[in-house]
Amino acid sequence: MATMDSLIGLMNRIQRACTVLGDFGGGSGGNSGLPTLWESLPSIAVVGGQSSGKSSVLESVVGRDFLPRGSGIVTRRPLVLQLQQTQKGEADYAEFLHLPNRKFTDFNLVRKEIQDETDRITGKTKQISPIPIQLSIYSPNVVNLTLIDLPGLTKVAVEGQPDSIVEDIEDMVRSYVDKPNCVILAISPANQDIATSDAIKLAREVDPTGERTFGVLTKLDLMDQGTNALDVLEGRAYRLLHPWVGIVNRSQADINRNVDMILARKKEREYFQYSPDYSHLANRMGSEYLAKLLSQNLESVIKAQIPSITSTINKSIEELDKELDSLGRPVAVDPGAKLYTILELCRLVDRIFKEHLD
Ligand code: GDP
Ligand code: NA
Ligand code: MG
Repeated sequence: MATMDSLIGLMNRIQRACTVLGDFGGGSGGNSGLPTLWESLPSIAVVGGQSSGKSSVLESVVGRDFLPRGSGIVTRRPLVLQLQQTQKGEADYAEFLHLPNRKFTDFNLVRKEIQDETDRITGKTKQISPIPIQLSIYSPNVVNLTLIDLPGLTKVAVEGQPDSIVEDIEDMVRSYVDKPNCVILAISPANQDIATSDAIKLAREVDPTGERTFGVLTKLDLMDQGTNALDVLEGRAYRLLHPWVGIVNRSQADINRNVDMILARKKEREYFQYSPDYSHLANRMGSEYLAKLLSQNLESVIKAQIPSITSTINKSIEELDKELDSLGRPVAVDPGAKLYTILELCRLVDRIFKEHLD
């Protein structure tokens, strides 16, 4: 019997393969059935206003420094990030889909490649593009998750951006979080009124019951003295189905001083442990707790999805078989070879699903 972790790992591989094949059959209009399959797989997207701390939260969940961060619009293309847990003792590395066979072990180079690849499509401008960058990180220290970093929601176009940018970003973000299988990580900064949160506004629109929304409150350390966020964290200010998680990321000064992830997490733990306001919530706060919570949720989502994914996969197998027949089943020639690979992957997952259902 396969463990749920290996199941998530397989799902990640399939999602990756489906992205490669996404426009193979003409995108979602294609006849391979793969985009449908892609849509039925769970993912977690980070949503929030500009500089609310989205990229910082993602880094904390991963436990590595690798994302471009800072004030202003830094994230300008969606980043589909697959975390894959490897055996204890193995070294961390990263791979981009657009650079197959190149293993990145220096995460500063990962950050640089994200910036360069963003610029390749958008130029060195403040423009955005909906074409995702696909990155996998392999490490013994991560849980198996697929995370999507998205550009921040804004209220006005700045110099060099078209007037439509506000709507363009919202449409792009919505196209990810609209999907019923997308878990929404709604990021709001604690030093702004929760009533003005763009993240909560969008999450409520696409997920009115709140089943797939996790509220994350960043910048607790930046609140005015004498105030605290207990009203939010304890669910009185804005009630969510899942409990709120408070986070303390690195400040810009910490980033400038190169405070590393391990020290940042230690400081965050201590912040909650010794805070007179939050110590009673300490075991339900912080980035490590958030990562655990998300992994648990993803597992239960996958379990609930197994029957419908199985039927999508079965449909895909049929359609892929037909498509392969019409291509004359070429052995090593694209696109037949690609199709064959995905077909084999589908069969493998289908078999494991059936074992789970038995
Ligand atoms: P994004 O635009 O939403 O992706 O936000 P970033 O992660 O790039 O962070 C924007 C800025 O806010 C950076 O300078 C971070 O150092 C800072 N920041 C984010 N979270 C926190 C936090 O919890 N506390 C403090 N003090 N600063 C934070
Ligand atoms: Na930013
Ligand atoms: Mg960002």
